[in-house]
Amino acid sequence: MARPSTTRRKASGVTASEVAAAASASSGRVTAKAAGTKTALITGASAGIGRELAFVFAEHGHDLILVARSSDKLEDLAGEVRRRYARAVEVVAMDLGVAGAARRLYDELASRGLQVEILVNNAGVGAFKPFGETDCADITQMIQLNVMATTELTRLLVPEMVERGHGRILNLASVAAFVPTPLCSVYGATKAFVLSFTEALSEELSGRGVSVSALCPGVVDTEMVRGAGETLGHPDAVPSFLMLDPRQVAREGYQACMEGEVIHINGFTYEAVVQWMRLQPRWFVRKLIGFLARRYR
Ligand SMILES: NC(=O)c1ccc[n+]([C@@H]2O[C@H](COP(=O)([O-])OP(=O)(O)OC[C@H]3O[C@@H](n4cnc5c(N)ncnc54)[C@H](OP(=O)(O)O)[C@@H]3O)[C@@H](O)[C@H]2O)c1
Repeated sequence: MARPSTTRRKASGVTASEVAAAASASSGRVTAKAAGTKTALITGASAGIGRELAFVFAEHGHDLILVARSSDKLEDLAGEVRRRYARAVEVVAMDLGVAGAARRLYDELASRGLQVEILVNNAGVGAFKPFGETDCADITQMIQLNVMATTELTRLLVPEMVERGHGRILNLASVAAFVPTPLCSVYGATKAFVLSFTEALSEELSGRGVSVSALCPGVVDTEMVRGAGETLGHPDAVPSFLMLDPRQVAREGYQACMEGEVIHINGFTYEAVVQWMRLQPRWFVRKLIGFLARRYR
């Protein structure tokens, strides 16, 4: 397989483990690693922010383990990452929205002999309709994916990170984590959980070499938002200046993760809005969001 020029430039003075890593990258297996290479597991990597995170992590020299349900999309992505960045990539096609999924994923990693140094809990779904009209099954799946899979996967991987004395965790929260979100009440609640969990765990693990970060984007131009716009009958409801680019969100997420920033809100506008809302009484904030949400029904 042809290698990108960056790999060729670094070819002189490589160590044996780097040669082994390059060989493993070309075979697509995360088996042997270059000294210092850190493998990132990204859930929800087949689309949207997760797919962009995969490119950003690979660009910075990380091997990848990509997880989502769509194996065809994951295989295409893995092929592209191997071609462009010569990184080793593993694909695990799995539904994380069902009970016990995190344990099955953990066991799969163990059976392939894979070690995770960076965990990115990105997979998530939303339901953008009145609570009473949302299927119970959809609500259960959302909580299972956004909350349970994130929590259980973190619980399973943290002890190894602590034992090694290093590890990084990036959780996808949202600006919705800071406020109640009428008409997508459960989604907002799952993101509030992710934010609270991240903050608490980051403090609990401080000084032990493991950082935990929450990435809090506003509205990002992905399938999730396009789907919500169509459900609500307002595909173009969000003005363009509020629509974030998924690649930029991923870049900021990578930086926040590597710097151990505990909460990162994407974009100055959203940061300003969140800070302003924090200064307002809670009743005012929920009334305001309820008013805005109802306008788009
Ligand atoms: N877009 C936004 O405006 C926005 C704003 C703030 C926060 N976020 C958060 O950012 C994260 C990514 O959102 P996105 O906008 O990039 O969404 P997206 O484009 O819809 O992508 C969602 C990803 O999650 C995967 N996924 C969905 N259900 C899954 C399941 N049951 N098991 C395993 N993987 C599953 C999807 O892959 P498969 O379908 O192949 O499984 C896909 O790769 C989510 O946690 C979301 O809450 C998004």
